[in-house]
Amino acid sequence: ARRIWLTRHGQSEFNLVERIGGDSNLAPAGEVYARCLPDMLIGRLPLTDDEQCVPVSVWTSTLRRTIQTARYLPFPKLRWKALDEIQAGTCDGLTYEDIARQSPDEFAARSKDKLRYRYPAGESYMDVIQRLEPVIIEMEREKECIVVVGHQAVLRAILGYFMAKPLASIPTLDVPLHTLIELRPRPDGTMDFDYIPLP
Ligand code: G3H
Repeated sequence: ARRIWLTRHGQSEFNLVERIGGDSNLAPAGEVYARCLPDMLIGRLPLTDDEQCVPVSVWTSTLRRTIQTARYLPFPKLRWKALDEIQAGTCDGLTYEDIARQSPDEFAARSKDKLRYRYPAGESYMDVIQRLEPVIIEMEREKECIVVVGHQAVLRAILGYFMAKPLASIPTLDVPLHTLIELRPRPDGTMDFDYIPLP
């Protein structure tokens, strides 16, 4: 049966200093995750009826940290702009502490309604959910197994869709770093899932 795997990029240099957005490289721990990812995945690939490995394609965003995380996976890759992380607009490159200090009203507005809050000159979770629609349509249409190497906000939206979660819960869904999430379609159309941590 077909599988979909979701994973965040490995820890990035910006994650280390708690800055949001940007286009930084992987930090050393993120590089370790990238190197372990092929083994975490290869043991889980289903076989076809004649015992061949099923075809797999790897989808990343256009940002360095997802491309670097996927680079040791021995499968064809596709880059989607629609998989890029939520645009933080004027807050790009700041820490949450910076935002709370420099723009307390923005910080408060986001805490009040994280789903609808739109960063100045950036996006809201609702915007991200909307721009992911073509990706999700393609994920459902695709016959091959897919590995999506994405970002926290984007993966919350994809996971929320496949797990049929209420919209309001999407901005706080748990998508930990260095963890592969395996989705398996059930015959009734719903999904079974597992969190597979870095060994
Ligand atoms: O800005 C990027 C973060 O991965 C999104 O996290 O929506 O919880 O602030 P957040």
